[in-house]
Amino acid sequence: MDGIEQWRMVDEGWGRRAADFATLMEPAAAREYLYVHRRLGIGPGTTLLDMACGSGLALELARLQGADVAGVDASARLAAVASLRNPDSRIVAGDMAEPHFPAASFDVVTSFRGIWATTPAAMAQARRVLCPGGRVAITFWGEMAASQGGPLFAPFRLATPPQIDHQSDMVALKRPGVAAQFLTDAGLIPGEVFDVPFVLEFADPEHFARGLAATGPGYEAVMVAGEDAFREACLEAAAPFVRDGLPIRATMRLLGIIGTAPAATHISP
Ligand SMILES: C[S@@+](CC[C@H](N)C(=O)[O-])C[C@H]1O[C@@H](n2cnc3c(N)ncnc32)[C@H](O)[C@@H]1O
Repeated sequence: MDGIEQWRMVDEGWGRRAADFATLMEPAAAREYLYVHRRLGIGPGTTLLDMACGSGLALELARLQGADVAGVDASARLAAVASLRNPDSRIVAGDMAEPHFPAASFDVVTSFRGIWATTPAAMAQARRVLCPGGRVAITFWGEMAASQGGPLFAPFRLATPPQIDHQSDMVALKRPGVAAQFLTDAGLIPGEVFDVPFVLEFADPEHFARGLAATGPGYEAVMVAGEDAFREACLEAAAPFVRDGLPIRATMRLLGIIGTAPAATHISP
């Protein structure tokens, strides 16, 4: 990447339409956040770090449940929205693979579609900041072909072949045993992979096109095909989901796994 660290480029894609991302895309994940927070049993006093926190809706919902939260995201413009939503929390604009937070300082770490098979250094950070016995939950896409809403992501395939290959590498966690090994490699005790509810919902195809264009993979596709062709591809993808008087609504296959940091070993005097 010719001297520029890769994470610094993230804001180009994810941050260029931060307000659209925050209001059109991120709310769809509310079901996912609620479900994972409940599985983790977060509540008053839980200290929680969200890695790749995007525009911070998951943090806001965790705060409403009484948690003390912090977040990190590579996109400065998304991090600015996360700070707006969580004014008293520490939100870092930076690389999640870097040590921004003290070791053993969180009960819980979450990452919603933010830590991927391609980011083991971020997983190592999650492990480092967890208190003994603390837990990390990550979510990642399951089989798109088996998802009702899989066709809605077809416009991402307008990106270059290497970018599409990279997207495939990122989702390797969905393969049997890979996510558990990924956590084990980071020094965590993995639980079972579980299904996480996820629904895409948009007022109409134009809102869908605008929302999808605000994502990183959307940006990659726009750079190749141009804004107009990307918008057209989105309208075409959304057409089968249009029903009179109802929003576009489609479920996506999303998976999650929880890893536990080993309890502190007691050394006898
Ligand atoms: C699929 S989005 C998920 C965002 C958020 N977790 C959500 O639920 O909407 C991926 C996020 O990862 C962030 N990201 C990508 N690379 C990163 C890195 N190296 N360090 C921190 N954040 C990163 C992007 O800026 C983006 O917000």
